[in-house]
Amino acid sequence: MTVPFIIGHRGAKALAPENTLLGFKRAAICGVTCVEFDVKLSKDNIPFLLHDDTVDRTTDGTGLAKEMTWAELQELDAGSWMGTQFAGERLPSFEDTLKLCAPLGLAINIELKPCPDRDQETTEIVLDVAKKFWPTTAPAPLISSFERESLRHAQRLAPDWARGYLLESNLPNDWKEFAEEIDAATLNINQAGQTESSLADLKSLGKPLLAYTCNDYKHGLFLKQHGVSAIFTDNPLLFADQL
Ligand code: G3P
Ligand code: MG
Repeated sequence: MTVPFIIGHRGAKALAPENTLLGFKRAAICGVTCVEFDVKLSKDNIPFLLHDDTVDRTTDGTGLAKEMTWAELQELDAGSWMGTQFAGERLPSFEDTLKLCAPLGLAINIELKPCPDRDQETTEIVLDVAKKFWPTTAPAPLISSFERESLRHAQRLAPDWARGYLLESNLPNDWKEFAEEIDAATLNINQAGQTESSLADLKSLGKPLLAYTCNDYKHGLFLKQHGVSAIFTDNPLLFADQL
């Protein structure tokens, strides 16, 4: 699979509230052609965009997302926390996100971010909705997750859609075996602290490396020079010459 060097992280997290429709519009205006976002399920099984387990940090509400219905989640303001100019921005449904990104020409990396113990139904429902609303004429989504069960379900349910194996800085001992088990198309690695030799080890599997989250121009170029295929950035404007 091919990805552009710059992927907008949670839309364009430095320029608009993360994981919002405004963020995807801003990313597109900046010239971004691929965005990443985090998807989970409401209590009543509507897939929507949110990074954390709770709504506290990125909305004006409080509580666990998995205990809130979609009707309750839609009431929340997901913009004011970042600035009054973003007041009124809502948590987007996954369906609305697909319906916005496709005509904007944005390729998508869907990060499965299930609420605790909801790996299977999250993967099933997210992939169902994606198959229904993501145009077959658009580039197929990249499906990524830190959760091994989510990736296994994705392999079973959408074998033809590329999987990105998300890795924390501390690699598990069996990362190579698991990457092969799920036939990962990409390794989505933490950019922090990577050196020429750590990148060489990661590259030894022959899979493209996508590095999150890089907001430093020089480090971004270092990663590129040493074989990283793409970086996730909060601020695509920093990398305007790399778009
Ligand atoms: O998918 C890349 C990156 O988003 C993974 O980390 O915690 O920002 O979702 P996180
Ligand atoms: Mg993410």
